Amino acid sequence: MNYLKCILGLLLGLLSITVCAKIQTILPINTQDTSMVYGVNESNKLQFLYYGKRLNSFDNFSELHMVNKPDTNRTFQSPAIPTFGADGFMNEPMLRVTHADGGMSTDLVYVGHQVNNQDNNVSVMKVKLRDPNYPFFVTLKITAYLKENIVSQQTIIEHSEKGDIELQSFYSGYLALKSQAYHLTHFHGAWAGEMKLSEEKLTQGIKSIESKKGVRTTQTENSSFLLSLGQTSTEDTGEVIGGALAWSGNYKINFEVDEYKNLNLLAGMNPFASQYTLASNDIFETPALILSYSAQGQGKISRNFHSWARRYSLMHGDQERPIVLNSWEGAYFSFDQATITEMIDDAADLGVEMFVLDDGWFGNKYPRNSDKAGLGDWQVNQSKLPNGINFLAEHANKKGLQFGIWIEPEMVNQDSELAKNHPDWIVQRPGRKLLEWRNQLSLDLSNPDVQAYVYSVVDDLMQSVPNIAYIKWDANRHIENIGSNYLAKDKQSHFWIDYTKGLYSVYEKIRAKYPNLLMQACASGGGRLDFGSLAYHDEFWASDNTDPMARVSLQYATNLIYPAIATGSHISTSPNHQTKQPSSLKFRADVAMTGRLGMELLQDENRTFIKKALLTYKNIRKIIQFGDLYRMHTPIDGSGWTSLAYVGSEDAVMFLFSTRHHDRGIYPTVKLKGLDAKANYRITELNKGDKTCWVDQKVFSGEYLMNVGLNFDVRFAYDSLVLKLTKVN
Ligand code: GLA
Repeated sequence: MNYLKCILGLLLGLLSITVCAKIQTILPINTQDTSMVYGVNESNKLQFLYYGKRLNSFDNFSELHMVNKPDTNRTFQSPAIPTFGADGFMNEPMLRVTHADGGMSTDLVYVGHQVNNQDNNVSVMKVKLRDPNYPFFVTLKITAYLKENIVSQQTIIEHSEKGDIELQSFYSGYLALKSQAYHLTHFHGAWAGEMKLSEEKLTQGIKSIESKKGVRTTQTENSSFLLSLGQTSTEDTGEVIGGALAWSGNYKINFEVDEYKNLNLLAGMNPFASQYTLASNDIFETPALILSYSAQGQGKISRNFHSWARRYSLMHGDQERPIVLNSWEGAYFSFDQATITEMIDDAADLGVEMFVLDDGWFGNKYPRNSDKAGLGDWQVNQSKLPNGINFLAEHANKKGLQFGIWIEPEMVNQDSELAKNHPDWIVQRPGRKLLEWRNQLSLDLSNPDVQAYVYSVVDDLMQSVPNIAYIKWDANRHIENIGSNYLAKDKQSHFWIDYTKGLYSVYEKIRAKYPNLLMQACASGGGRLDFGSLAYHDEFWASDNTDPMARVSLQYATNLIYPAIATGSHISTSPNHQTKQPSSLKFRADVAMTGRLGMELLQDENRTFIKKALLTYKNIRKIIQFGDLYRMHTPIDGSGWTSLAYVGSEDAVMFLFSTRHHDRGIYPTVKLKGLDAKANYRITELNKGDKTCWVDQKVFSGEYLMNVGLNFDVRFAYDSLVLKLTKVN
């Protein structure tokens, strides 16, 4: 009999049978159009049940019909926080811990939960879990932003075990997805070529996007993605999940398709070389994984991220950004006081609103006349600027401009007073060769003394030049030669995380004292483009590549996730340091206007055109910086055009770029999106070139513009068009 039972049991285990699992407590989190659902099962385990289109009833989750895993007698279930060791989860775990007694397995059961509605748009659900064998606790925190259709996941880890525990893996968020196919869009690149988009079909195994570089963590691979479920998605069709990690240090995002075609998505701080010791009663909080779901393609994901960023993430997300002129491409390191005052005068005449003095203004014993010396010595260079920064800031103010300045306070040249005075502050492993990058080394921000110093760079500058209104904060290398003179020998692996936390603590102090200061996140261009850093910054420098054709693609990919209001986008000289290909001033201005418009120095250009363009931008910037972004043609749709529109409540601005030559007779039809179908719109051409577009001053209905569309004679590479659409009665 026993023998028969055994055979039967084995057969049942081997055959896939459908069973019912009871979910005792259902925990839904809703936004306007999406739902994320967790549930506590009969074994008191918190399960991840669903992320997708908004559901109105959750009752059916109480009985989950599931299939047994072949060759086990267990069902497919997805723990909310997959742990290593005790839970039967065989994929990459979200949490891996060595407990105080050496035990390597972790199990989590549900303790309780609470939901707190912060207001009528934001709600926070916290679910507390514990290990039945240890006083080890994890709180899963889910924040839902109703109108913006954003949900964020993060965890808080604490314990009161008898001794330290070691955290080995500590991801922030996890999704368990089931679809016929998965297509991942991610963004990779290099200096002056950030945010190159790749889309690929995921197959069994793990695809990871990650950084192990410590600084400039998002330059070579950005910590954001789009994941299409089933078919590939387009601007307006398909199921898509967008994600972005709010963390400016090493990160890892895993897309693991298992043997049954389930996709396990994990995102968080990179566990690589980062084992973290957590003392009893200390708290370890992971950064937020920001998620959005759309059943209507990628455009909606972008709009969700942008409105969320402006309202909840970006510094001063509700304030218009000034037009900046940055001195870098115009002067590099060679300037004196007269060069700068002339640039300011010129900028004022053109209608610029903020002058930013870039690299090269500091260092005396080791003057910063190239990138070889002076970094770290933040005293005004007396021979270049004998009357100091105050003189320049006042000069700018007198001319009606605000004044900004460049700093790179996390870094040091060996040829600097700072490096000579504080060799112990430099990231290095004694006995190893110092590896320079752009002739510079990194400072150890895990050290509180270095944090205090970095804060003092900003504070001293602000104290001595109170009318600094803008700081461009740069960071021009990765971290190598890992080693901290501050961290204890058994805590060296804390370096990556403590560096980023140290950086954030400096930002916090700066923001507490200087809440109105505008700050730009730059790390050789877009090396710190993530929602962790954007929480302290007003904008980012998207790339050192200011070639407008390159920017069409780069800003398209950037703005899939990050908003135009924060995208530093400058009109530059042409050809310039990045390209030999000349482009018209109109094309450069049109491209730059799709983001936060600024300029690098322009020589021998048509000043009348620039003046008018800057004035135009001032009139339309509300729409660009706060409007909803719709894309009609994209750089990846094969059409050879890129067209987009920012749509406000009363008006819209449309941009069209031809990115290659098209045969005679091949013209783009632009069918606008997001307009009011019932309204009429008067069209005004902006930044006019030699010819006037046929639609200028004509009136069309929203319905016509969106369904029939308009044809334009924009056929040759570097042709472009900008139109304003204004509602009329
Ligand atoms: C980096 C930045 C540039 C400029 C230089 C100055 O490369 O991305 O915009 O500020 O540093 O050295």
